[in-house]
Amino acid sequence: MADSQYSVALVTGASSGIGAAVTRALRALDLKVYALARRREALAELAGEVGCIPLVADVNDTGQVNEVLAGLPIDILINNAGLGRGFAGLAQTTGEDIARVIETNVAAVLQVTRIVLPGMIERQRGHIVNMGSVAGLHPTGLSLYGATKGAIHLFGQNLRLELQGTGIRVTEICPGRVDTPFFDTALDDPADAKAFTQGFACLRPEDIADAIAYAIRAPWRCNIATIELMPTEQSIGGARITPVPQPP
Ligand SMILES: NC(=O)c1ccc[n+]([C@@H]2O[C@H](COP(=O)([O-])OP(=O)(O)OC[C@H]3O[C@@H](n4cnc5c(N)ncnc54)[C@H](OP(=O)(O)O)[C@@H]3O)[C@@H](O)[C@H]2O)c1
Repeated sequence: MADSQYSVALVTGASSGIGAAVTRALRALDLKVYALARRREALAELAGEVGCIPLVADVNDTGQVNEVLAGLPIDILINNAGLGRGFAGLAQTTGEDIARVIETNVAAVLQVTRIVLPGMIERQRGHIVNMGSVAGLHPTGLSLYGATKGAIHLFGQNLRLELQGTGIRVTEICPGRVDTPFFDTALDDPADAKAFTQGFACLRPEDIADAIAYAIRAPWRCNIATIELMPTEQSIGGARITPVPQPP
Protein backbone atom coordinates (compact mmCIF):
# COMPACT_ATOMS: atom_id res chain seq x y z
CA MET A 1 0.00 0.00 0.00
CA ALA A 2 1.35 3.44 -0.92
CA ASP A 3 2.38 5.74 1.92
CA SER A 4 -0.34 8.36 2.12
CA GLN A 5 2.09 11.31 2.34
CA TYR A 6 4.15 10.58 -0.76
CA SER A 7 3.80 8.96 -4.15
CA VAL A 8 6.93 9.65 -6.21
CA ALA A 9 10.56 9.04 -5.24
CA LEU A 10 13.94 9.69 -6.87
CA VAL A 11 16.94 7.58 -5.87
CA THR A 12 20.37 8.69 -7.12
CA GLY A 13 23.05 6.03 -7.39
CA ALA A 14 20.36 3.39 -7.82
CA SER A 15 22.39 1.04 -10.03
CA SER A 16 24.28 -0.63 -7.19
CA GLY A 17 24.62 -1.31 -3.47
CA ILE A 18 22.58 0.86 -1.11
CA GLY A 19 20.74 2.76 -3.87
CA ALA A 20 19.48 -0.45 -5.48
CA ALA A 21 18.31 -1.74 -2.08
CA VAL A 22 16.53 1.54 -1.33
CA THR A 23 14.85 1.41 -4.74
CA ARG A 24 13.57 -2.09 -3.94
CA ALA A 25 12.33 -0.96 -0.51
CA LEU A 26 10.51 2.09 -1.88
CA ARG A 27 8.90 0.00 -4.62
CA ALA A 28 7.74 -2.39 -1.88
CA LEU A 29 5.98 0.64 -0.33
CA ASP A 30 4.21 0.99 -3.69
CA LEU A 31 5.86 4.28 -4.55
CA LYS A 32 6.67 5.27 -8.10
CA VAL A 33 10.47 5.28 -8.11
CA TYR A 34 12.79 7.03 -10.55
CA ALA A 35 16.17 5.30 -10.39
CA LEU A 36 19.08 7.48 -11.52
CA ALA A 37 22.66 6.44 -12.29
CA ARG A 38 25.13 6.30 -15.19
CA ARG A 39 25.03 2.54 -15.88
CA ARG A 40 22.11 1.91 -18.21
CA GLU A 41 22.27 -1.92 -18.12
CA ALA A 42 22.28 -2.15 -14.33
CA LEU A 43 19.29 0.22 -14.13
CA ALA A 44 17.45 -1.77 -16.81
CA GLU A 45 17.99 -4.96 -14.83
CA LEU A 46 16.66 -3.33 -11.65
CA ALA A 47 13.68 -1.94 -13.56
CA GLY A 48 12.92 -5.46 -14.83
CA GLU A 49 13.08 -6.75 -11.27
CA VAL A 50 11.08 -4.11 -9.35
CA GLY A 51 9.41 -1.83 -11.89
CA CYS A 52 11.32 1.37 -11.17
CA ILE A 53 11.81 3.93 -13.94
CA PRO A 54 15.45 4.26 -15.06
CA LEU A 55 16.99 7.70 -15.54
CA VAL A 56 20.44 7.48 -17.08
CA ALA A 57 22.43 10.53 -16.00
CA ASP A 58 25.65 11.66 -14.37
CA VAL A 59 24.90 13.66 -11.22
CA ASN A 60 27.91 15.83 -12.02
CA ASP A 61 26.30 16.94 -15.28
CA THR A 62 23.76 19.45 -14.00
CA GLY A 63 22.34 20.10 -17.47
CA GLN A 64 21.67 16.39 -17.96
CA VAL A 65 20.10 16.07 -14.50
CA ASN A 66 17.87 19.08 -15.19
CA GLU A 67 16.77 17.46 -18.42
CA VAL A 68 15.88 14.03 -17.03
CA LEU A 69 14.10 15.48 -13.98
CA ALA A 70 12.11 18.14 -15.87
CA GLY A 71 8.48 18.16 -14.73
CA LEU A 72 8.77 15.14 -12.39
CA PRO A 73 6.77 15.70 -9.17
CA ILE A 74 9.35 14.24 -6.78
CA ASP A 75 8.11 13.82 -3.18
CA ILE A 76 11.09 11.88 -1.87
CA LEU A 77 14.69 12.56 -2.87
CA ILE A 78 17.29 10.02 -1.84
CA ASN A 79 20.66 11.72 -2.34
CA ASN A 80 22.69 8.52 -2.40
CA ALA A 81 25.11 8.62 -5.36
CA GLY A 82 28.66 8.88 -4.08
CA LEU A 83 32.10 7.38 -3.89
CA GLY A 84 35.21 7.14 -1.77
CA ARG A 85 38.81 7.69 -2.87
CA GLY A 86 42.00 8.65 -1.11
CA PHE A 87 41.87 5.79 1.39
CA ALA A 88 45.69 5.57 1.45
CA GLY A 89 45.89 9.11 2.85
CA LEU A 90 45.74 12.64 1.47
CA ALA A 91 49.44 12.75 0.57
CA GLN A 92 48.90 9.79 -1.77
CA THR A 93 45.67 11.13 -3.32
CA THR A 94 45.56 12.67 -6.79
CA GLY A 95 44.15 16.11 -7.46
CA GLU A 96 41.67 14.49 -9.87
CA ASP A 97 40.36 12.20 -7.15
CA ILE A 98 39.91 15.14 -4.76
CA ALA A 99 37.93 17.06 -7.37
CA ARG A 100 35.81 14.05 -8.36
CA VAL A 101 34.89 13.04 -4.80
CA ILE A 102 34.00 16.60 -3.77
CA GLU A 103 32.03 17.14 -6.96
CA THR A 104 30.03 13.90 -6.65
CA ASN A 105 29.55 13.70 -2.87
CA VAL A 106 28.91 17.39 -2.19
CA ALA A 107 28.37 19.68 -5.20
CA ALA A 108 26.07 17.24 -7.05
CA VAL A 109 23.99 16.65 -3.91
CA LEU A 110 23.35 20.39 -3.63
CA GLN A 111 22.63 20.68 -7.37
CA VAL A 112 20.15 17.78 -7.46
CA THR A 113 18.45 19.09 -4.31
CA ARG A 114 18.25 22.59 -5.78
CA ILE A 115 16.57 21.19 -8.88
CA VAL A 116 13.99 19.14 -6.95
CA LEU A 117 13.24 21.58 -4.11
CA PRO A 118 11.06 24.22 -5.81
CA GLY A 119 8.46 21.57 -6.73
CA MET A 120 8.45 20.23 -3.16
CA ILE A 121 8.03 23.73 -1.75
CA GLU A 122 5.18 24.45 -4.15
CA ARG A 123 3.39 21.19 -3.26
CA GLN A 124 4.23 21.68 0.47
CA ARG A 125 5.28 18.06 0.58
CA GLY A 126 8.66 16.45 0.48
CA HIS A 127 11.31 14.36 2.16
CA ILE A 128 15.02 14.69 1.42
CA VAL A 129 17.23 11.83 2.58
CA ASN A 130 20.96 12.48 2.43
CA MET A 131 23.41 9.60 2.49
CA GLY A 132 26.04 10.63 4.99
CA SER A 133 28.43 8.31 6.76
CA VAL A 134 29.93 7.75 10.17
CA ALA A 135 32.99 9.23 8.44
CA GLY A 136 31.10 12.53 8.37
CA LEU A 137 30.42 12.45 12.11
CA HIS A 138 33.59 10.96 13.57
CA PRO A 139 37.27 10.80 12.61
CA THR A 140 37.97 7.61 10.68
CA GLY A 141 41.31 8.51 9.10
CA LEU A 142 39.74 9.31 5.72
CA SER A 143 40.32 13.03 5.33
CA LEU A 144 38.97 13.45 1.79
CA TYR A 145 35.93 11.21 2.15
CA GLY A 146 35.28 12.43 5.71
CA ALA A 147 35.40 16.05 4.57
CA THR A 148 32.68 15.40 1.99
CA LYS A 149 30.41 13.49 4.35
CA GLY A 150 31.01 16.10 7.07
CA ALA A 151 29.82 18.67 4.56
CA ILE A 152 26.71 16.58 3.95
CA HIS A 153 26.06 16.52 7.71
CA LEU A 154 25.98 20.32 7.97
CA PHE A 155 24.21 20.64 4.63
CA GLY A 156 21.30 18.63 6.05
CA GLN A 157 21.29 20.45 9.38
CA ASN A 158 21.17 23.85 7.66
CA LEU A 159 18.66 22.77 5.03
CA ARG A 160 16.29 21.58 7.75
CA LEU A 161 16.42 25.06 9.27
CA GLU A 162 16.00 26.75 5.88
CA LEU A 163 12.94 24.64 5.14
CA GLN A 164 11.14 25.20 8.42
CA GLY A 165 7.53 26.03 7.69
CA THR A 166 7.47 24.29 4.32
CA GLY A 167 6.49 20.85 5.62
CA ILE A 168 9.55 19.30 3.97
CA ARG A 169 11.54 16.85 6.07
CA VAL A 170 15.30 16.28 5.92
CA THR A 171 16.89 13.04 7.11
CA GLU A 172 20.56 12.08 7.25
CA ILE A 173 21.59 8.43 7.20
CA CYS A 174 25.07 7.70 8.57
CA PRO A 175 26.15 4.11 8.06
CA GLY A 176 29.31 2.38 9.14
CA ARG A 177 30.73 -0.25 6.82
CA VAL A 178 28.22 -1.69 4.34
CA ASP A 179 29.05 -4.62 2.05
CA THR A 180 28.72 -3.04 -1.41
CA PRO A 181 30.98 -2.44 -4.44
CA PHE A 182 31.86 0.93 -2.82
CA PHE A 183 35.27 -0.44 -1.77
CA ASP A 184 36.06 -1.66 -5.31
CA THR A 185 35.78 1.96 -6.44
CA ALA A 186 37.61 3.36 -3.41
CA LEU A 187 40.66 1.11 -3.64
CA ASP A 188 42.74 0.20 -6.69
CA ASP A 189 43.91 -3.19 -5.38
CA PRO A 190 41.03 -5.74 -5.24
CA ALA A 191 42.71 -7.44 -2.26
CA ASP A 192 42.64 -4.15 -0.29
CA ALA A 193 38.99 -3.68 -1.26
CA LYS A 194 38.10 -7.17 -0.07
CA ALA A 195 39.87 -6.61 3.23
CA PHE A 196 37.33 -3.89 4.11
CA THR A 197 34.37 -6.23 4.07
CA GLN A 198 35.82 -9.61 5.00
CA GLY A 199 36.36 -11.14 8.40
CA PHE A 200 33.45 -9.48 10.17
CA ALA A 201 29.72 -8.99 9.71
CA CYS A 202 29.27 -5.76 7.74
CA LEU A 203 25.96 -4.01 7.39
CA ARG A 204 24.00 -5.06 4.32
CA PRO A 205 22.39 -2.62 1.87
CA GLU A 206 18.95 -3.82 3.03
CA ASP A 207 19.74 -2.63 6.58
CA ILE A 208 20.16 0.91 5.25
CA ALA A 209 17.04 0.62 3.09
CA ASP A 210 15.02 -0.48 6.15
CA ALA A 211 16.21 2.60 8.08
CA ILE A 212 15.22 4.88 5.21
CA ALA A 213 11.81 3.23 4.91
CA TYR A 214 11.32 3.83 8.66
CA ALA A 215 12.16 7.55 8.30
CA ILE A 216 9.85 7.94 5.32
CA ARG A 217 6.94 6.15 6.96
CA ALA A 218 7.18 8.09 10.24
CA PRO A 219 4.13 10.26 10.86
CA TRP A 220 4.43 13.73 9.30
CA ARG A 221 4.94 15.44 12.68
CA CYS A 222 8.05 13.34 13.25
CA ASN A 223 11.22 14.13 11.31
CA ILE A 224 13.79 11.38 11.79
CA ALA A 225 16.71 13.79 11.63
CA THR A 226 19.77 11.53 11.81
CA ILE A 227 20.23 7.78 11.89
CA GLU A 228 23.66 6.33 12.66
CA LEU A 229 23.95 2.61 11.92
CA MET A 230 27.01 0.55 12.80
CA PRO A 231 27.87 -3.08 12.29
CA THR A 232 27.77 -4.71 15.72
CA GLU A 233 31.40 -5.66 15.16
CA GLN A 234 32.59 -2.15 14.22
CA SER A 235 33.06 0.75 16.63
CA ILE A 236 34.42 4.23 16.24
CA GLY A 237 37.12 5.44 18.61
CA GLY A 238 39.88 3.75 20.52
CA ALA A 239 43.58 4.23 20.00
CA ARG A 240 45.89 3.10 17.24
CA ILE A 241 49.25 2.27 18.73
CA THR A 242 51.77 3.35 16.10
CA PRO A 243 55.39 4.05 17.11
CA VAL A 244 56.43 7.59 16.16
CA PRO A 245 60.02 8.80 15.75
CA GLN A 246 61.18 10.53 18.95
CA PRO A 247 62.65 14.04 18.67
CA PRO A 248 66.43 14.04 19.18
N1 LIG B 1 29.42 1.06 1.53
C1 LIG B 1 29.67 1.71 2.66
O1 LIG B 1 30.35 1.18 3.57
C2 LIG B 1 29.09 3.07 2.89
C3 LIG B 1 29.09 3.58 4.20
C4 LIG B 1 28.58 4.85 4.44
C5 LIG B 1 28.07 5.60 3.39
N2 LIG B 1 28.08 5.09 2.12
C6 LIG B 1 27.54 5.95 1.05
O2 LIG B 1 26.45 5.27 0.46
C7 LIG B 1 26.29 5.75 -0.88
C8 LIG B 1 26.11 4.57 -1.83
O3 LIG B 1 27.29 3.80 -1.81
P1 LIG B 1 27.32 2.22 -1.98
O4 LIG B 1 28.01 1.67 -0.78
O5 LIG B 1 25.99 1.70 -2.33
O6 LIG B 1 28.38 2.11 -3.20
P2 LIG B 1 28.22 1.59 -4.70
O7 LIG B 1 27.64 0.22 -4.69
O8 LIG B 1 29.55 1.81 -5.31
O9 LIG B 1 27.15 2.57 -5.33
C9 LIG B 1 27.45 3.89 -5.72
C10 LIG B 1 26.32 4.38 -6.60
O10 LIG B 1 26.56 5.76 -6.92
C11 LIG B 1 26.40 5.93 -8.30
N3 LIG B 1 27.22 7.03 -8.79
C12 LIG B 1 28.53 7.28 -8.53
N4 LIG B 1 28.94 8.36 -9.20
C13 LIG B 1 27.87 8.80 -9.92
C14 LIG B 1 27.66 9.86 -10.82
N5 LIG B 1 28.66 10.72 -11.15
N6 LIG B 1 26.43 10.03 -11.37
C15 LIG B 1 25.43 9.17 -11.07
N7 LIG B 1 25.56 8.15 -10.21
C16 LIG B 1 26.77 7.95 -9.65
C17 LIG B 1 26.81 4.59 -8.93
O11 LIG B 1 26.15 4.40 -10.18
P3 LIG B 1 26.84 4.42 -11.63
O12 LIG B 1 28.25 3.98 -11.47
O13 LIG B 1 25.98 3.51 -12.43
O14 LIG B 1 26.71 5.85 -12.06
C18 LIG B 1 26.24 3.61 -7.91
O15 LIG B 1 24.89 3.34 -8.20
C19 LIG B 1 27.49 6.64 -1.18
O16 LIG B 1 27.12 7.99 -1.02
C20 LIG B 1 28.49 6.24 -0.10
O17 LIG B 1 29.39 7.29 0.20
C21 LIG B 1 28.58 3.85 1.85
